[in-house]
Amino acid sequence: MERILLLGGSGILGSEVLSHLQSENFEYVAPTSTDLDITNRDQLLRVVSEFKPAWIINCAAWTNVDGAESCFEEARELNAIAVESLGIAADLFECKVIHISTDYVFAGDSSEPYLETSRVQPLNKYGESKLQGESALLTVLPSAYVIRTSWLYGTSGKNFVKTIAGKALQSEESRVVDDQVGSPTSARDLAIGILSVIKKQPEPGIYNYSNRGSCSWFELAQKVYETVGADNGLVHPISSGSLSFIAKRPKYSLLSKEKWLSAGLSEVPNWEYSLQLIMPEIISELQ
Ligand SMILES: NC(=O)c1ccc[n+]([C@@H]2O[C@H](COP(=O)([O-])OP(=O)(O)OC[C@H]3O[C@@H](n4cnc5c(N)ncnc54)[C@H](OP(=O)(O)O)[C@@H]3O)[C@@H](O)[C@H]2O)c1
Repeated sequence: MERILLLGGSGILGSEVLSHLQSENFEYVAPTSTDLDITNRDQLLRVVSEFKPAWIINCAAWTNVDGAESCFEEARELNAIAVESLGIAADLFECKVIHISTDYVFAGDSSEPYLETSRVQPLNKYGESKLQGESALLTVLPSAYVIRTSWLYGTSGKNFVKTIAGKALQSEESRVVDDQVGSPTSARDLAIGILSVIKKQPEPGIYNYSNRGSCSWFELAQKVYETVGADNGLVHPISSGSLSFIAKRPKYSLLSKEKWLSAGLSEVPNWEYSLQLIMPEIISELQ
């Protein structure tokens, strides 16, 4: 079994990857950000040289989209410069890398799902920092895998589905934007996808992965209310213009999974199916 270094193992996605590494008996280490701050290049090089992983899975990131507008240098430090360091360390110690990126590299002005080769044009600083990370990594380590995903949710960390489920359980009203369309993605499905890359080792490069199908944030919130048995009439649609988000968000962020599927990687379940599967765990976390 190949040795794996998992970064960001406490996050929405990382915690799902961690539980799959455990259940599939991989040999791994998953240092916390206190044990290994990946913005510290010397620390990163030391951990990689000592553990000698065959693979590094990077789920660590600056994910505060609005915060990145005023703290761009800090976001860039983690999402771009540390990712470049990771590539340098991996090149030096001959490891393979799977790095996670985002639909926010796109402007959201398409009317059909984005391909891996579609034009990138981030609307906000977070997207810009993530795009810089992708490019820096693939420049120093062309054998790396970059997986772009969207609208992640899971049982761990702060995420939209959990927040809305909390409100639904209290029968509180929610106001949710109905003019941004995307594909909610279960962190559990993506974790399985990441491990399928390790098992299959397709051509390196960029791959899209999100759940199948699409909805607006409003429709997703309605579905969450229905799943917890609350009245979905408590969810009210609003336009993104009426909210005072600091960062602009793409209106459309569907990702084509053709390349993923042709490479024979993991299944891409429908978003509603995956949501139903995980909701009981999210509900019990909240109760
Ligand atoms: N969330 C989404 O909707 C979404 C959508 C598209 C793409 N993505 C991408 O998916 C990936 C996973 O996102 P996520 O939502 O699971 O992230 P998350 O829940 O915000 O977790 C971020 C992780 O990064 C770690 N971290 C932060 N600073 C670090 C540092 N200096 N050194 C080492 N680790 C550090 C955190 O550790 P601590 O807990 O110790 O701080 C945490 O484990 C990211 O690349 C993100 O850009 C996310």
